[in-house]
Amino acid sequence: MKLLASQPGWTSRADVVVIGSGVAGLTAALNLRASGLSVLLVTKARIDEGSTKWAQGGIAAALGPGDTPEQHKKDTLVAGAGLCKEQAVDVLVSEGPEAVRKLISRGALFDKSESGEIALTREGGHLRNRILHAGGDATGAEVSRALVAAVHEDSGIEVIEHALALDALHAANGEVCGVTLHVIGVGSRDGVGRVIARAVVIATGGLGQVYSQTTNPSVSTGDGVALALRAGAKVADVEFIQFHPTVLWRDSSAAGQQPLISEAVRGEGALLLNHRGERFMVGKHPQAELAPRDIVAKEIFIQMKESGVPHVWLDATGIKDFQERFPTIYSSCKSNGIDPTSQLIPVAPASHYASGGVLVDLNGLTSVPRLYACGETACTGAHGANRLASNSLLEGLVFGSRIADHITNHIGPWLEPVEDLSESFLLNPAIELPLQLAMSQGAGVMRSEISLNETLSVLNQLGTRATNEPRIEAWEASNLYLLAQAIVRSALARKESRGSHWRSDFPETSPDWQCHVVQELDSEGNWSSHLEEVNDA
Ligand code: FAD
Ligand code: SIN
Repeated sequence: MKLLASQPGWTSRADVVVIGSGVAGLTAALNLRASGLSVLLVTKARIDEGSTKWAQGGIAAALGPGDTPEQHKKDTLVAGAGLCKEQAVDVLVSEGPEAVRKLISRGALFDKSESGEIALTREGGHLRNRILHAGGDATGAEVSRALVAAVHEDSGIEVIEHALALDALHAANGEVCGVTLHVIGVGSRDGVGRVIARAVVIATGGLGQVYSQTTNPSVSTGDGVALALRAGAKVADVEFIQFHPTVLWRDSSAAGQQPLISEAVRGEGALLLNHRGERFMVGKHPQAELAPRDIVAKEIFIQMKESGVPHVWLDATGIKDFQERFPTIYSSCKSNGIDPTSQLIPVAPASHYASGGVLVDLNGLTSVPRLYACGETACTGAHGANRLASNSLLEGLVFGSRIADHITNHIGPWLEPVEDLSESFLLNPAIELPLQLAMSQGAGVMRSEISLNETLSVLNQLGTRATNEPRIEAWEASNLYLLAQAIVRSALARKESRGSHWRSDFPETSPDWQCHVVQELDSEGNWSSHLEEVNDA
């Protein structure tokens, strides 16, 4: 199965093609270059577009006095609600500090305390201050700036912007040997072309745009997960969509990317209040407002449902020097008519992060030879049923680098692609909004068999709205459609509540479901799924 597109009109070659220029793709590209391979980095929009530059709170790493990877591991496992792959967590927390040092050596500047040490803050689910931040609440912008500068300095990494990867190319033996892509360019590389490569790394980020309100930018349409599915790769844990509890609520009709109010604001003492002005997290969890994200989002949802008010309040008025510590958030509140130093901030949950994705091993290799995935696109198993705050940038750094090591040591010979004779499909871009609304309505913070089946029937209708006119919006809508199907199918299968998957009809966590839902798509577009044991998947 492939996306409908015209025949490739041009061909390029590189040892490795990296798709996506967030923290994961940039790290993989830099590390691959360090071992002498030629790298082509293709990215859908401008090089700095993606979730990475929006990251606020920071990067979690056991760097503070008295902190250890073991303690970071404990907090990660608790947040992951029994579904973390322990080996992946071990890799994340033990290789994390070195990966952060490497990032610093590449030029990233983190905020310092008055004594000149790197300042560490706290976020939900962490029992220690272990979050490095930059520019107050502009960590992602600094990480992106430093990595993009390093890539631009390396003449061995070729970058193509405005290049949307479509589908994988396969060799006669079934191995992946490149990608097709559409470039808005000049000269010979314009329109649909292909890159032949000895390994392909998917680092296309998240899929927040599957929902009508999200913290994710417009490029986060899950293209890489959809590409991997069409290439025959397995995906896992996609029902675990993390809803960030504190996203600025503007009005009920707000759609697309919404401003985030970082968890670090609660880390610095902000409190959640209901419509009566009462704190509601106390007594719900020992860490109250700093409970893991899924628990806070769930309690906010309950408060909103009970009161009929479409948001709760965040009281940050007690934070000293708010404007200096959180300049981005201060300015987005002000531009929405709220002064967070003197007024309560209306907040509600919105889709934020995909804890699942393309199933990979500890080296980032998918179930298809020569196809790798890292960053938010991948499911390493490090996040289980709910990612711990600030573990995502860290995962991009750690696994982006591991992929580079693995490719360097296992790079295969050049293979030539064979013609892909599978069915092609393309959906009308007009399906995007109804799809997002149906997903938010029926597969959001809380789901049930009834709501999920209603969503599935909307999706099935939308799936009949084909088009013969290939263009970016149609490719993205078709990818969103595949992902929505995958999420709803997984969420229907999992008959329990766990982490960020909350079923109103199965409110308890069940030991029978301490396993992963793994899905695949065959060449005719038929889904199949099976369960895999934790640590085996
Ligand atoms: P991204 O940074 O999203 O990059 C994906 C790249 O792929 C982009 O360059 C995109 O243009 C490109 N792309 C997409 N599709 C295609 C295609 N078809 N072809 C070619 N290119 C494509 N995490 C933390 O750890 N700490 C935080 O403080 C934090 N705060 C966050 C705040 C916000 C508002 C958001 C949205 C997320 C936050 N996260 C945070 C999560 C974290 O930012 C992301 O999970 C992480 O940056 C993902 O990195 P990535 O490299 O996987 O993807
Ligand atoms: C935040 O700053 O609240 C987001 C942190 C994250 O997603 O890890």
